[in-house]
Amino acid sequence: MTEPSDLSLRIHQAIAQAGGWLGFDRFMTMALYEPGGGYYTNALQKFGALPASGSDFVTAPLMSPLFGKTLAVQVQAALQATGTQEVWEFGAGTGALAKQLLSGLGDAIGRYTIIDLSGTLRARQADTLLEYADKVRWLDSWPEVIEGVVVGNEVLDAMPVQLLQRKNGVWHERGVVSVGTGFAWQDQVTHLRPPVEIEGPHDYLTEIHPQAEAFVTSLAERMLAGKGGAAFFLDYGFPEAEYFHPQRHMGTLMCHQLHQADDNPLLDVGQKDITAHVNFTGVALAGQNAGLEVLGYTSQAWFLLNLGLAEQMAKASLAERSQAQRLINEHEMGELFKVIGFSTSADWDALGFSQGDRSHRL
Ligand SMILES: C[S@@+](CC[C@H](N)C(=O)[O-])C[C@H]1O[C@@H](n2cnc3c(N)ncnc32)[C@H](O)[C@@H]1O
Repeated sequence: MTEPSDLSLRIHQAIAQAGGWLGFDRFMTMALYEPGGGYYTNALQKFGALPASGSDFVTAPLMSPLFGKTLAVQVQAALQATGTQEVWEFGAGTGALAKQLLSGLGDAIGRYTIIDLSGTLRARQADTLLEYADKVRWLDSWPEVIEGVVVGNEVLDAMPVQLLQRKNGVWHERGVVSVGTGFAWQDQVTHLRPPVEIEGPHDYLTEIHPQAEAFVTSLAERMLAGKGGAAFFLDYGFPEAEYFHPQRHMGTLMCHQLHQADDNPLLDVGQKDITAHVNFTGVALAGQNAGLEVLGYTSQAWFLLNLGLAEQMAKASLAERSQAQRLINEHEMGELFKVIGFSTSADWDALGFSQGDRSHRL
């Protein structure tokens, strides 16, 4: 039998301190972000195209440089429309998107600020961005004012969620308990509910996203304290009517390790990524209620095509074209991935949402 890792021991301690039961959101926070052992703070490779590199998953900027090159068109227009010169990236991963934006936009970007929970990734980002060292800075905490254009690719899905389970018609919050050296699920009756009523009497497991929504609220407050700005989040997810569809009774929680997906976050803790899809209605409402305008909401395919990806692809080599195609293929990233845009003012339109805007479905 293998010894439990330091991270597992710390989670067992946290469970004991909490009286024997830990809400899944706290478990997920520790599994991903606990200093030292958490998945995003340890030294594992994480990002990459193939499992042979020891990586667990690939994201759009690593799949094709045309992702950032195309997003740059929107970022530049948003910088112009808001009269700002700073780009802010949350959760910059390897720094690949930052590099694509910085190389694509040149002098249009005066400063590029990265905020990432992961210290080990910060070192990788600094390596990737060496040639832009004079423009890039990292912040450990949020400033009072955020002025400029904010981007976040696959960051909202990495924010801890609470799990809700309807069993025999009664809602429970799903948490984690210690069983020997391992972990097991345990449900407790709760007053918490999904944001929409789930039709039917059947058992139903889902997630709610208070942390992602609080993140957008805090961001909105800081953006509105400045002279202007916009924000674009790209991620997999749905509007709430689809998210909480009666047939989606197993939720969307998923783990990624060596390019395989599984649904058990209680095993190999700290060794694999844990994510949940984004409820884009919740994200839109959080921004709107805090005072931001929704610029638009659409699929990644529509967004990138509106911004000229097809024209970029026509100029690229065959290999580059086939990589970029994955960004927009319906069965790959094109449809499951969505983009939501926010702005501090309603006096401009974002090109990325010019066709195929689905804000009305949120
Ligand atoms: C799935 S990775 C995506 C990385 C990168 N954007 C990409 O597309 O390759 C999620 C990233 O979000 C970061 N992250 C998660 N929650 C965050 C938060 N609240 N603030 C800043 N970064 C966060 C993680 O540390 C990690 O770098």
